[in-house]
Amino acid sequence: MKKVYVTRRERFNAAHKLWNEAWSSEKNQEIFGKCANANWHGHNYDLFVTVKGTPQADTGFCIDLKYLSDLIKEKVIEKVDHKNLNLDVDFMKGIMASTELLCVKIWEELEPEIKKSGCQLHSVRVHETENNMAEYFGEDL
Ligand code: NI
Repeated sequence: MKKVYVTRRERFNAAHKLWNEAWSSEKNQEIFGKCANANWHGHNYDLFVTVKGTPQADTGFCIDLKYLSDLIKEKVIEKVDHKNLNLDVDFMKGIMASTELLCVKIWEELEPEIKKSGCQLHSVRVHETENNMAEYFGEDL
């Protein structure tokens, strides 16, 4: 069976703040820069969800991208879009609202559902800016 990777992009806009309470204000500013802004700030995020599977004989699809899009919207986009990642999002409670941890948490939201579809989740990539992004493959170090 041929293994093919299929990717769906979704976008969302959200506010966040990166701040470590254990550190001084100066250290937070030094480490997190603009992301430590006291009154929050926002990013236009791009989310790329890649699934691997084999093209089915009847459709030629590994996964129905409409199904994948609806799933991402239900499990992720509706929870994060135009929200405050630190305060409003159930799956981000109590953790740093970094791009890396967004990837991990979005993986945890999507993986059990995608498995039910007969495909496997391959990666979750989040672009915070044009130049800064993180990607998670479900692996531990
Ligand atoms: Ni930021």
